[in-house]
Amino acid sequence: MIRINQPLNPASIAQPDHLYVADAFDVLPCCEDAGCDLVICDGPYGVTTNDWDRVANIQEFNLNLIKIFSQKLKPGGALYLFGKPNCIDFIDYRPYLHLRSKIVWYQPSRLAQGRLNYTNNYDIICYFIKGNKPKTYNLDDIRVAQLVELEHRLRCERVPSVKNGRYGKTKFDDRGKNPGDVWGDIKQLTYKSQELVGREALNTIQKPERLMERLIKASSNEGDLVLDPFAGVGTALAVCKKLGRNFIGIEKNPEFAEMAEKRIKLAGKEIKQGLLQYAE
Ligand SMILES: C[S@@+](CC[C@H](N)C(=O)[O-])C[C@H]1O[C@@H](n2cnc3c(N)ncnc32)[C@H](O)[C@@H]1O
Repeated sequence: MIRINQPLNPASIAQPDHLYVADAFDVLPCCEDAGCDLVICDGPYGVTTNDWDRVANIQEFNLNLIKIFSQKLKPGGALYLFGKPNCIDFIDYRPYLHLRSKIVWYQPSRLAQGRLNYTNNYDIICYFIKGNKPKTYNLDDIRVAQLVELEHRLRCERVPSVKNGRYGKTKFDDRGKNPGDVWGDIKQLTYKSQELVGREALNTIQKPERLMERLIKASSNEGDLVLDPFAGVGTALAVCKKLGRNFIGIEKNPEFAEMAEKRIKLAGKEIKQGLLQYAE
């Protein structure tokens, strides 16, 4: 892994397994067109007072990113765009990418103290594809436990379900089920989480490795190229390293980039020592 601290020459090409400490909008033009298998975009949400989160209009900001990523993705490649529930409202992304799902990342433990409205308890992860068909969707790598007791399971197997207008049998699959589009099984990090790199990274910055792991396993294969233009403290990049994916990371805050570099190096060491695991 190489960390580049100098501004990138606009004529150069961004290289795999590099972390660029720079503004994403300076480096993205240097990423090869149709070169990425997957983009993980966990950038500004436009809701906090952090300098990096201040954007004039989050929907216009996201539309601009969607346009850029549609150029950088291979046909069938995937984009996961993080945000708040309104993050792609009233913009027309359809000429660029195809929206397959809006995944709800449900966080029941968030402090619910709203007095005039229902407290927002979830983030959205917009799952886009370039074209109509994903080139990769590794369902078997992301199945989750099917929490049905035995008696109910037998009953389930006799319950008819409708698929493409025809009745079929609901099947219990021992390998687990599709995680669906509401994810309540992956908790937000807390100040007690082992993987938290520091208090300042809590809530606004650092995502759980298990969340990134699910996205990366589902929509890429070993050796694929994953682009993370707002890398933060490097969660997705460290997971890429653990899972044998190549990556291009961009982060403008040098302190976060330094933490990201440490995590990627640690992931490399863990691979060598056969110690791979995701902390709770
Ligand atoms: C939500 S955080 C990403 C967290 C990351 N997923 C993680 O788990 O560590 C967004 C990051 O985007 C960075 N950022 C915001 N605007 C940027 C820009 N124009 N170029 C590069 N990085 C930027 C911020 O410094 C911040 O670290």
